[in-house]
Parts: sequence; C-alpha cells; structure tokens
Amino acid sequence: MNINRTAWLGAATLAVLATTASAQIVNTKHNFSSMAWSGGEICKPCHTPHFAMKEAGALWNHELTTATYLMWEGEGTAETDLDKRSRLCLSCHDGTVALDSFGGMTGTSFITATANMGLDLEDDHPIGRDAVYPVEGSSRFNPANTLPSTMRLRDWTDENGVIQKVVSCGTCHTAHGRGFPYLLNISNSASAMCLECHIK
Ligand code: HEC
Ligand code: HEC
Ligand code: HEC
Ligand code: HEC
Repeated sequence: MNINRTAWLGAATLAVLATTASAQIVNTKHNFSSMAWSGGEICKPCHTPHFAMKEAGALWNHELTTATYLMWEGEGTAETDLDKRSRLCLSCHDGTVALDSFGGMTGTSFITATANMGLDLEDDHPIGRDAVYPVEGSSRFNPANTLPSTMRLRDWTDENGVIQKVVSCGTCHTAHGRGFPYLLNISNSASAMCLECHIK
C-alpha cells in the first residue's frame, strides 16, 4: 500500500516536472510547431540531435546570418562583431535568413513586423562589440558579479584575439522562455532588469 502510494506520487511528480519543462517554450512565440514548415516539431528549427553546426554551439540547426550591420561603433559583421549567441538570434531576427532555413533546407518564410530588427542595430540596445561589460572607466554600471545567474554576459573575441565579456541578446532574453513577458530572463517590472546593470 505504502509502496504503491510512493510509486504513484513519484509518477505524479514526474508528470508535473515534465509539464513545467515543456510549458516554457510551448507557450511562447518560439513554438513554431503549428507552422506547416516546422513539420510539427518544436526544437528542430533551431536544434538537431545529429549533424549540427558544430561551430555555432548548442547543436545548432538553423542557417546562420552573414549580414553586415550598422552598429553603434560603425559597421560590423555577424561573424566578427557579435557574440556567438546574438548571431544565433539574428539568424532569424535580422530578416536576412528565412525562418524555415534549417536542417540544410532553404526556406521562404521571413520574420515580420517589430520582431524583424533589420540591419540597423543602432536603434537597438548595444550588444556584442558595442557592449563590453562593465564599461571601462565608467562608474555608472554595477559590477558584473552582481548580475542574476540567468543574465549571463557572453564571450566576444576582439580584433586582438582577446575574449571580452559582452551584453548579448541572450543576456536579457532566453530563446526558451522563463515565464516572463518577451522571453526575458528576469522580470523587467519597474525596469528591474535595466537597473541590474545601469546605476540610475
Ligand atoms: C527559436 C530557436 C530555438 C528553439 C525553437 C529551441 N531552442 Fe534551444 N536554444 C536556442 C538558443 C539560441 C540557444 C543558445 C542559448 C544560449 O546559450 O544563450 C539554445 C540552447 C539550448 C540548450 C543548451 C543550453 C541551455 O539553455 O540549456 C538546450 C539543451 C536547448 N536549447 C534545448 C532545446 C529544446 C529541447 C528545444 C525544443 C523543446 C529547444 N531548445 C528549442 C534556441 C532555440
Ligand atoms: C528560427 C528563428 C528564430 C530564432 C533563431 C530566434 N527567434 Fe525570436 N522569434 C522568432 C519569431 C518568428 C518570432 C515571432 C514573431 C512574431 O510574433 O511575429 C520571435 C519572437 C521573439 C520575441 C518576442 C516574444 C514575445 O513574446 O513577444 C523575442 C523577445 C525573441 N524572439 C527573441 C529571440 C532571441 C533573444 C533569440 C536568440 C536567443 C531568438 N529570438 C531566436 C524567430 C526566431
Ligand atoms: C539590454 C537588454 C536587451 C537586449 C540586449 C536585447 N533585448 Fe530584446 N527586449 C528587451 C526588453 C526589455 C524587451 C521588452 C519590450 C520593450 O521593453 O520594448 C525586448 C523586446 C524584444 C522583442 C519584441 C519586440 C516587439 O516589439 O515585439 C524582440 C523580438 C527582441 N527583444 C529581440 C532581441 C534580439 C534578437 C536581441 C539581440 C539582437 C535583443 N532583443 C537584445 C531587452 C533586451
Ligand atoms: C547586462 C547589462 C545591461 C543591461 C541589463 C542593460 N544595459 Fe543598457 N547598456 C549596457 C552597456 C554595456 C551599454 C553600452 C555602454 C557604452 O559602451 O557606453 C549600455 C547602453 C545603454 C544606453 C546608452 C546607449 C548610448 O546612447 O550609448 C542606454 C540608453 C541603455 N543602455 C538603456 C538600457 C535600458 C533601458 C535597459 C533595460 C531595458 C538596459 N539598458 C539594460 C548594459 C546593460
């Protein structure tokens, strides 16, 4: 009797955990499984278990952008001036690579409206090369080690081959969602996220 009850509770707990795990991306705009081009899958437009693009990391499956951008400090390219994670995001969000260009296929559906950030990144929060953190010589930023663990700075290799810690799309957002609006890593209620870095 006790054993059965424990087994049942165990199963129930697993069921709850499973729901929590999938509830994250399933209920976000990154769940493309209802699009005909996704083949009904959630992860596949971005990841694959085999034959991934090794240099991109994260078992990446989506064609990478090779765009040139207008950045805060002048022209910059996806390959050299962004951290790797921001490049993954812009591989859909700069509007140059189709959403359904993955797994070696060349697609035809492009991102639209305000989710399309385009090639002008000067009207967006600085990332990659433009956002080495904290800013040298400025006392207007909190120390990096006070950032919440989900708001990770990312590596970017500068022109001298030195690895710098930078603000990335992935510092503020997660691709999978954590229950906060706009796929943010923490709540930005009362601008809490901005104040994690900026002393204002
Ligand atoms: C819209 C694109 C997208 C979709 C869809 C997506 N991911 Fe990801 N995933 C990413 C990106 C981008 C990263 C790299 C995140 C980072 O390190 O900043 C990542 C990282 C990961 C990682 C490694 C690091 C981590 O955050 O744990 C795992 C594991 C992962 N994804 C699993 C999944 C699974 C499983 C699915 C499907 C249920 C999925 N992802 C769907 C974009 C996506
Ligand atoms: C496979 C293509 C793809 C990749 C890769 C991708 N996105 Fe998206 N993303 C989309 C699409 C499509 C939408 C929905 C746009 C719409 O609603 O029209 C979206 C929506 C969003 C939204 C808005 C969410 C909301 O609730 O309004 C955010 C924020 C976002 N993406 C950030 C990211 C970040 C950060 C990354 C990298 C970690 C990333 N995306 C990678 C395709 C992608
Ligand atoms: C410094 C933090 C920060 C960085 C870095 C950042 N975002 Fe955002 N993003 C936000 C916040 C906060 C919002 C919520 C909407 C708002 O406040 O305007 C947002 C909103 C969005 C939206 C929804 C726009 C809309 O109107 O539907 C998309 C898409 C998005 N971000 C993608 C990205 C991508 C891709 C990158 C990297 C190129 C990125 N973000 C970098 C903080 C950030
Ligand atoms: C992870 C740290 C971090 C977060 C979070 C963050 N910022 Fe920033 N922000 C930076 C860095 C780094 C720069 C680049 C500063 C530089 O090089 O001068 C910057 C630059 C700026 C600038 C100045 C752009 C210019 O004119 O040079 C503004 C405005 C700004 N951020 C607003 C925001 C807002 C609003 C939020 C919240 C949505 C936010 N930031 C979140 C780190 C951050």
